[in-house]
Amino acid sequence: MARTFYVTTPIYYPDSDLHIGHAYTTVAADAIARWHRLHGAKTFFLTGTDEHAQKIERRARERGQEPAEFVAEMAARIRRLWDRLEIDYDDFIRTSEPRHQRVVQEIFERVYRQGDIYKAHYRGWYCTPCETFWLERRLEEGCCPDCRRQVEFLEEEAYFFRLSGYAGRLLEHIEANPDFIQPPSRRNEMVSFIRGGLEDLCVSRTTLTWGVPVPFDPRHVVYVWFDALTNYLSALGYGSADPADQERYETFWPADLHLVGKEIVRFHAIIWPIILMAAGIPLPRKVYGHGWLILKEGKISKSTGNVIDPLVLVDRYGVDAVRYYLLREIPFGADGQYSEEALVARTDADLANDIGNLLSRTTAMIERFTGGRIPPPGTGDRVLADAAADAREECTRAMDGLQLSVALGAILGAARRGNKYIEEQAPWELAKAGATARLDSVLYDLAELQRVLAVLLKPFLVQASAVIWEQLGVGDITVATHQDLEWGRLVAGTPIKRGKPLFPRIVSKGADR
Ligand code: ME8
Ligand code: MG
Repeated sequence: MARTFYVTTPIYYPDSDLHIGHAYTTVAADAIARWHRLHGAKTFFLTGTDEHAQKIERRARERGQEPAEFVAEMAARIRRLWDRLEIDYDDFIRTSEPRHQRVVQEIFERVYRQGDIYKAHYRGWYCTPCETFWLERRLEEGCCPDCRRQVEFLEEEAYFFRLSGYAGRLLEHIEANPDFIQPPSRRNEMVSFIRGGLEDLCVSRTTLTWGVPVPFDPRHVVYVWFDALTNYLSALGYGSADPADQERYETFWPADLHLVGKEIVRFHAIIWPIILMAAGIPLPRKVYGHGWLILKEGKISKSTGNVIDPLVLVDRYGVDAVRYYLLREIPFGADGQYSEEALVARTDADLANDIGNLLSRTTAMIERFTGGRIPPPGTGDRVLADAAADAREECTRAMDGLQLSVALGAILGAARRGNKYIEEQAPWELAKAGATARLDSVLYDLAELQRVLAVLLKPFLVQASAVIWEQLGVGDITVATHQDLEWGRLVAGTPIKRGKPLFPRIVSKGADR
């Protein structure tokens, strides 16, 4: 049976347009999903929208709209953003869909029937931007300890979920599965959080009607985080009578990777596994909490208004430059500062210089010295064959550990090796000296290196990788698989199709900066 891989992004709140921070997670998940597809895994990549938040209901009303109408518009805008970023998701789940609500109700009721949800009274605080309940003693200077904003007092009848009873089992699970929460810094945070004691969690509201009704007590709606987390199951068709849904669930659950920002690891690594334990469903294999993109002024955030619109960047620099910058600039897991200057510098240095120049120099020399056709391979050195093999190996190791920046660094290193090889071998001198066999070997290896590197780049640079194959005359890269990473597949005699520069420099050489 083929290996399978199920990866998810958070489902984002569609209360306003998404910014570069959301694009960061989604581009990373897309590259990871594409990497697994390339390597032959049957892959399912899920994203979507978290629509039942209190802040969404409020925002809709402010605009004089019904929440359902507002979220439909916003979800469509989000899908357009993902299209522009060439996000190749397999499904887009909206929590207002009936297929999702059915599963939320089923799980809520199951956990209730077996005794882990009980009715009581909530008297405490709520942070609407974070959609989080806070006990008085957790507040910091009267504000939300996570986002430091104003909280609101709530007093209402509510259902509670017995988180407290599961702390021991969860700690054991974390201990026995070191990969469950990654990177290790986040695991340590979660372990100390759990050791500090878990309180039962409020999981319903009565002062809100925008949500999934509690099936046995419809005056209540299910708390938005209980509702939202369940998307990872509902999108697979959990509990459905339809055989296609059943097969999808059997194939892909448990999820291999929930990719999330570090501020919501707590929900994914504590509340979600406990919901699953209580419902008797296997736990996901990994929750990975990546770092934040920050600006000099602090975290990019919808509510502080310092947003960077990814659409503007794609218009200005192209989809590959934006994807590349996001994944290469910041070691995955750590926080990193976003700046447009750094994006431009990266694009020019890595994409225009290293990758783009290598292709244009190679295709120019093939036109000039071998009649525009791929020459026969030689029996000369293994310099570039080794560089390609090393890049593949390093890239694979890095992707296994979700070190996306390291993976790209390995590919770029091989491209730089190619450029250096041109200087070392000076093909124009070989041509002058009539050293035809040697010249053929050098040009073949240069073209072959790029054929292989394009396959490694395919999950990241979705457009440029295709152009590299086209210009080398290899054909359509969409059908490439990991088998195309084998050295020596380029066929001698293939006509190349030299074209425009892959990445025209943004800042022209020698221009004042
Ligand atoms: O939390 N840097 O949705 P949300 C990096 N609906 N990543 C960032 C970021 C930044 N500055 N800003 C946002 C929610 N993100 C819930 C999730 S899941 C069951 C429910 C990314 O719209 C990052 O992935 O607030 C973060 O966790 C997510 O967007 C928060 O999106
Ligand atoms: Mg948030």
